[in-house]
Amino acid sequence: MPTSADSVFIARSAGISAEGVRDQYADGKAAKVWEIFIGDKNSRTENYKNFLIELLRSKGCRRILDVACGTGVDSIMLLEEGYEVVSVDASDKMLKYALKERWNRRKEPAFDRWIIEEANWLTLYDDIKPIVGEGFDAVICLGNSFAHLMDDSGAQLNHKQAIQNFQMCLKTGGILFIDHRNYDDILETGDTPAKSIYYNTSHTADIKTSVLLYCGKPAMVTMDYLIEGNNLSSEFRLSYYPHALQNFTKILKEIFGEKSKHKLYGDFKEIQVEKKPAFYIHLIEKQ
Ligand SMILES: C[S@@+](CC[C@H](N)C(=O)[O-])C[C@H]1O[C@@H](n2cnc3c(N)ncnc32)[C@H](O)[C@@H]1O
Repeated sequence: MPTSADSVFIARSAGISAEGVRDQYADGKAAKVWEIFIGDKNSRTENYKNFLIELLRSKGCRRILDVACGTGVDSIMLLEEGYEVVSVDASDKMLKYALKERWNRRKEPAFDRWIIEEANWLTLYDDIKPIVGEGFDAVICLGNSFAHLMDDSGAQLNHKQAIQNFQMCLKTGGILFIDHRNYDDILETGDTPAKSIYYNTSHTADIKTSVLLYCGKPAMVTMDYLIEGNNLSSEFRLSYYPHALQNFTKILKEIFGEKSKHKLYGDFKEIQVEKKPAFYIHLIEKQ
């Protein structure tokens, strides 16, 4: 039976991006607060920078595709570390901040060469084919971004198509680095940890969580964020598909091949160390 939770529950911002996907960031509210929420530009990526850079170095990666660049936070960190970066996102409201940063820092060669495109994961490979060339060393999709993509078919065809597109953008031996919140735990407890493992933010966030069941199955998790601090109080709502860990791993293996190397991390630590993480981070290699 087709499940389209989207047709039952309307998110606050139902804008459609130029790319044709529903853009939950279209009203600009989350985009504006995001920059404030993720905090000071110099320290905000400290939590996961060493982990990511070390990993990319150990795999000999040079050319990176950030498929959910948003306001550009991960891409900028990688540019500053000397990587060649191509960044895409479906939301012009989010990209606006990345484009502004590129313009402000255009005198730095890495920023002058930074390619930023509006693109949708469902058509990604065709959208950026000329840029893909022989393939990227790594594709990154971080910050619980992938879960924004809903399941229109009931068989997760959208999810498979998007991951297939990520895989096609990689060269042989290239890696996909993709995360999602611990939805197994969210569905069990009905609660989302508000502390960000990603950003050194001085602003506190409260997240009110709702779970939508469609034909008896969890089909959408909606998070109402309240961000407070420094005389700021702002609310926005984002909705996600609740990826169960086992099933998400199965889809990755289905697209990349059963024999492909897959490694799981919890909150940027070995999974044995962090048994009940807020985020699962998957690393999978193209054969
Ligand atoms: C939570 S933001 C994360 C941005 C950034 N990685 C970070 O951590 O700050 C998620 C991003 O995914 C993008 N996105 C959602 N669905 C998309 C799709 N189908 N194609 C391309 N981008 C999409 C949104 O526009 C948004 O900018």
